[in-house]
Amino acid sequence: MMDAPTTPKDGTGARIPEEASPDAVLVRRTLAEIAPVADQVTSYFYALLFVRNPELREMFPAAMDTQRDRLLKALLTAAEHLDDAPVLTAYLENLGKGHRKYGTKAAHYPAVGEALIGALVRYATASWDAETEAAWVRTYTTISQIMIDAAAENEEHAPAWWQAEVVSHDLRTPDVAVVTLRPDQPYPFLAGQYTTLETPWWPRIWRHYSFASAPRPDGLLSLHVKAVPAGWVSNALVHRARPGDVLRLGPPAGSMTVDHSTDSGLLCLGGGTGIAPIRALVEDVAEHGDRRPVDVFYGARSGHDLYDIDTMLRLQKTFPWLSVHPVTEEQGRLPDAVCRYGPWEERDAYLSGPLGMVRRGVDALRGAGVPSDRIRHDFLAELTPASGDQPRSGACMARTPSMLPSR
Ligand SMILES: Cc1cc2nc3c(=O)[nH]c(=O)nc-3n(C[C@H](O)[C@H](O)[C@H](O)COP(=O)(O)OP(=O)(O)OC[C@H]3O[C@@H](n4cnc5c(N)ncnc54)[C@H](O)[C@@H]3O)c2cc1C
Ligand code: HEM
Repeated sequence: MMDAPTTPKDGTGARIPEEASPDAVLVRRTLAEIAPVADQVTSYFYALLFVRNPELREMFPAAMDTQRDRLLKALLTAAEHLDDAPVLTAYLENLGKGHRKYGTKAAHYPAVGEALIGALVRYATASWDAETEAAWVRTYTTISQIMIDAAAENEEHAPAWWQAEVVSHDLRTPDVAVVTLRPDQPYPFLAGQYTTLETPWWPRIWRHYSFASAPRPDGLLSLHVKAVPAGWVSNALVHRARPGDVLRLGPPAGSMTVDHSTDSGLLCLGGGTGIAPIRALVEDVAEHGDRRPVDVFYGARSGHDLYDIDTMLRLQKTFPWLSVHPVTEEQGRLPDAVCRYGPWEERDAYLSGPLGMVRRGVDALRGAGVPSDRIRHDFLAELTPASGDQPRSGACMARTPSMLPSR
């Protein structure tokens, strides 16, 4: 039997807390060993999966592009967070539910598990032994069982996917479109959530898009899409989609929703099309008849890129509790602008936009005294927090270059 090292390190080099379970120690040791060759592990994992199970290949996109490492990355991340049960379970339940749209069945999980173990055996040569293998088998079984159970539960009351017809397409700038969809059956979601979407032009390529309004009585759904350079799905939605086209939607996801059990004010940061879910949150507060103070900081490169500012200003006129602060790059960075106002300690904070903006925003808000557990954002796919427990140096005085807004 192999002794666990006294000061084990995880894949990031950080010390593993004393209370890490024996399986977590072994799993993390494997992860540390394969970290430098992660790309090769990914390629080998898929090669094994498809050679041994050719019938699974057609479930995956034709081009296994840069996104191909998501499945393996999630497996590895989940294995790494093995001891953080509540976060892990919520993440995996959502993932399992979302896998229904790919056609994934419970019977497919062993094949993925075997390819995973096969890839680890090949690349974690220094630390692999029978005990490590047993730890990985238990870990994979736990992870997949949570996903399988969540999918089975979800099957009882929701379709695997929805078809949604484009009913209007409004080009707001040369590269931002507001797309309105009519789902083929009721699509229940909460303001602030997002969907996954597949277009007919890129089969099996799914991307996330946030809902731009709270649920409407007519059941229509609207999305704000920005065409990113060389982006497959975004360009199809902005430049090709027309009324009558039919898309597929996965289930709603995301926890950037309003907590109606409190009457704390809201502080919202939306960069680029990140304003879409923020607008939905404002509508949600209004519909609940709350009069909670809501401050929205809306950032974009230029005034022209603030494509939804008219709507936001109209909402501000209607609701005395709402303050909208447009911020262009000329005026400074979005997080810096937020720091010029305040205090924000008592607010629930919501951030949506490009990852760089969200990261810097989280740092700035922590620096401004907003507790971490009151900060919500939509990069939930990332299990790890946007930064360390402490705000990075600078926080409200951050001097990092702006990345607004590619989203
Ligand atoms: C939770 C969540 C919610 C989202 N909501 C929205 C939304 O409401 N509206 C919206 O427009 N987008 C949103 N996105 C981003 C969206 O999911 C896609 O990533 C985006 O549309 C690009 O997809 P694509 O297929 O066009 O580009 P891809 O084909 O994936 O990428 C093509 C190239 O563009 C680069 N790239 C990818 N994304 C960006 C980017 N954002 N900026 C610059 N370059 C990029 C890639 O690195 C690659 O080189 C959201 C993302 C997440 C995670
Ligand atoms: C514990 C097991 C698994 C984990 C952790 C996992 C994780 C993931 C993740 C994170 C993604 C990225 C997109 C998303 O969030 O939905 C993904 C995509 C996908 N997964 Fe899984 N998955 C697992 C098992 C399976 C199984 C058993 C199948 C069926 C063969 C499968 C098929 C797919 C397909 C087809 C995609 C989309 C392909 C793509 O976008 O590249 N997954 N998986």
